[in-house]
Amino acid sequence: MKMVLASQNEHKRVEISHILAQYGIELVLQSELGLHVDVEETGTTFEENSLLKARAVMKAAGLPAIADDSGLCVDAMNGAPGVFSARYGGPELNDVGRYRLLLENLRGQMDRRAKFVSVVTACFPNGDVISARGECPGTIAYAPQGENGFGYDPVFFVPAKRKTFAQLTEEEKNEISHRGNALKMFSQKLSAYLNQ
Ligand code: IMP
Repeated sequence: MKMVLASQNEHKRVEISHILAQYGIELVLQSELGLHVDVEETGTTFEENSLLKARAVMKAAGLPAIADDSGLCVDAMNGAPGVFSARYGGPELNDVGRYRLLLENLRGQMDRRAKFVSVVTACFPNGDVISARGECPGTIAYAPQGENGFGYDPVFFVPAKRKTFAQLTEEEKNEISHRGNALKMFSQKLSAYLNQ
C-alpha cells in the first residue's frame, strides 16, 4: 500500500519508512508528487497537530497520508517544550542551540525526568482516520553525548540502556523510541483496518 508522508524531516522519514516497510507500506514523499504542503501547527496537543498535518496532505495528494507529531516533555518544566519542541528558543536556533538552551534552563535542577511523545496519524480519502500514540521515558543528561540521530537525541538519556538516544544505533533507537512505539501500535491498527 502506498501512503504519502506529510513530514519533510529527513531523519523522521528514514525512521518511519524503515519501520513501516516491515508492514508492506511504501512511503511516497510529497516531493515525488510535486507537493509541498506546509501546515501551520496550530494545535495544542500532539494528536491535533498530527491530524492537521495528515489531513492537509491527504487532501492535497488525494492519497492516504501519514504524519507524525512529536516532541520532548520535561517534568520539571511542566511538560515543555512539548508541541513547541521544534520551535523552542525561536527560529534562529538549530538542534544544537535548542538542546543547549534546554540544558541551560535545567541548570541546577535535580529532577531530570522527561519523555518523548509521538502521535502517528493516517488520514484516508474516504474520511477514515487511524491514530496511535507512543512514548519513551528517560532523563535529561547534564551534557550531550553521542553523534547519532537528531534533535534532542544527545541529551535524552535512557536509563535502561545507560545511553543517550544519540549513542544508540538507528535499530536500537527504533526498538524503544516514542516513534517506534507509536508506529508498532499504528501498524497493528492499520492492518486491522485493512483486513476488516
Ligand atoms: P514536529 O513533530 O515536526 O513538530 O517536531 C518535533 C520536534 O521534536 C523535532 O524537531 C525535534 O526537535 C523533537 N523530536 C521529536 N522526535 C525526536 C527524536 O526522536 N529525537 C530527538 N528529537 C526529537
